Amino acid sequence: MDLGLEGKVALVTGAGRGIGLAVARELGREGCRVAALDLSRGALGELVGSWSYGELLPLAADVADSSQVEGAVGNVLDRWSRVDILVNNAGIYLVKPLSEMREEEWDRVVAVNLKGVFNCCRSVLPAMKKARWGRIINASSFAAKIPALGACAYAASKAGVLAFSRVLAGEVGPYNITVNCYIPGTIATEMTAGARAEWGDSLLGTLALRRWGEPEDVARAVLFLASEAAGYITGASLEISGGKLVVQNPWAAYEDL
Ligand SMILES: NC(=O)c1ccc[n+]([C@@H]2O[C@H](COP(=O)([O-])OP(=O)(O)OC[C@H]3O[C@@H](n4cnc5c(N)ncnc54)[C@H](O)[C@@H]3O)[C@@H](O)[C@H]2O)c1
Repeated sequence: MDLGLEGKVALVTGAGRGIGLAVARELGREGCRVAALDLSRGALGELVGSWSYGELLPLAADVADSSQVEGAVGNVLDRWSRVDILVNNAGIYLVKPLSEMREEEWDRVVAVNLKGVFNCCRSVLPAMKKARWGRIINASSFAAKIPALGACAYAASKAGVLAFSRVLAGEVGPYNITVNCYIPGTIATEMTAGARAEWGDSLLGTLALRRWGEPEDVARAVLFLASEAAGYITGASLEISGGKLVVQNPWAAYEDL
């Protein structure tokens, strides 16, 4: 299937590793010009060092800081005069009971995961509206639906992303801009390394497909949401979780194998 992504300009946040790195590469492979944003140039070293596609623009910025985001989006517009696709992927995870959580910790999780999405959307929308075409694709999380203990700030921020995205989908629909979310389950990245090490088999037992997801599993779903083929999908969320808790006891199906 031709995804119609050739020549499009895509901005991917949190592109230095994990899911964002895979998304940036898949978009590059499809012929996009890719602006890859992460906290520092150093964080983008692996992506820059291994890039073998078309044009790449590495950007250092903190998505929680609106002036840094404005500056980064300004660089993209100076270079290519447009932003067609925005993938709000940057995120941080924190596991801590509410009784131990400091105010600054709560604020930081919400600032990166939720306000970061607001900052990036607000900065790219004038260009997308002018072009009368756009794809905004936001990282939510399985935790927004069924959170893990200790993830109150994280789960709240990711549930906020779902609600934010639906509102924005309604607001920008008249400009032919779609807004959707992807909902990863347990994908094998640095973010989940601790949980996978600690919970291992008991986590795997919650998955119908009983394997850890790879960043590319998510990236291919994001590619679809970015494509011309997904032009009638907006305000939706796509779960990429290996069938996590699709039934209450997915492990039982493996007992007879
Ligand atoms: N891995 C999973 O199973 C999983 C599950 C649910 C949701 N998610 C979400 O998917 C997204 C990517 O997850 P991942 O597993 O690849 O995470 P990761 O921790 O491996 O990578 C996150 C990237 O975001 C960057 N980043 C963090 N804060 C930033 C900021 N303030 N500004 C700019 N960049 C920043 C990091 O430097 C890093 O490169 C996140 O939003 C995460 O919450 C992941």
